[in-house]
Amino acid sequence: MTFRTEIDRVAELVEKRLSALLASNAAAPEAGGETASPLGEAMRYAALGGGKRLRPFLVVQSAGLFGATEQSSLDTACALECIHCYSLVHDDLPAMDDDALRRGRPTVHIAFDEATAILAGDSLLTIAFETVSAPRCHDDPVIRAELTHLLAKASGWQGMALGQALDLAAEQRPFSPDETMAMQKLKTGALFRFACEAGAVLGRADASSRAALVRYASIFGQAFQLADDLLDAQGDAATMGKAASKDAERGKATLVGLLGIEGAKARLAELVAEAEEALDPFGQEAATLIEAARFVAERRS
Ligand code: IPE
Ligand code: IPE
Ligand code: MG
Ligand code: MG
Ligand code: MG
Repeated sequence: MTFRTEIDRVAELVEKRLSALLASNAAAPEAGGETASPLGEAMRYAALGGGKRLRPFLVVQSAGLFGATEQSSLDTACALECIHCYSLVHDDLPAMDDDALRRGRPTVHIAFDEATAILAGDSLLTIAFETVSAPRCHDDPVIRAELTHLLAKASGWQGMALGQALDLAAEQRPFSPDETMAMQKLKTGALFRFACEAGAVLGRADASSRAALVRYASIFGQAFQLADDLLDAQGDAATMGKAASKDAERGKATLVGLLGIEGAKARLAELVAEAEEALDPFGQEAATLIEAARFVAERRS
């Protein structure tokens, strides 16, 4: 099974499940249902029909390493994707990166309005916790509680949200390479870490396997953001489905800015090799995760 077929297959499962979680008939009928507010529509616009679905893919693949079924990892994977989609909606707001294009379409605040985008982001964040804590997510309440706790830590004030705050702070003053890496570890790395660690939790992995996956995830996250920053510097908006050449213009702290294009590419190649090495304990079983790390470095969107 190649990485491409696998990620496409998992993305389809994710799309279907997200679509059910965000079904329009689920909107509160006592408040006038969908006709009274575009909130549900904005949430579906943000979450459905786009995106590489890499984070949910990592959840399912990591859990699969330990024999957990896709059925038992799918809702956790979708909860994580909801957090990711919320982070994108807010990342694109005028108060943050002020972007008008995402996943090849107008961003949520452009397609709807700013207040709706803020609320759609908020509600994607909360539906993630509704999903991961619900009995349907997993039979074992202890596992659900651990996943809920880890997801909260990964997303919030000491995780992704802090990383986003630091990303904005870096527009105001120069960041050192260490500060830049620490910021990226949070804004991007925290959700990738959750993806792989959740897989270990779902698969009831032993401590050393869990640590190996967390190490892989941490390197993967660094590689992912480095590739994203390289794409911003070199890619084109039509292929990426989002604006290019924004980071330098806004004074973002990136390793591309600090190392230059060639230095960043060399660092990316090192990170891919390190990610592969982190998976050594799993042997051939981890072939798809190895391919995922290569994909991240080679991607064009
Ligand atoms: C974009 O993430 C945001 C970053 C962390 C750089 P992705 O590149 O995974 O976005 P989608 O989900 O595929 O649109
Ligand atoms: C976004 O980083 C990270 C999160 C949304 C948490 P970027 O701002 O670089 O992502 P893009 O380039 O807009 O996708
Ligand atoms: Mg940003
Ligand atoms: Mg952005
Ligand atoms: Mg970017």
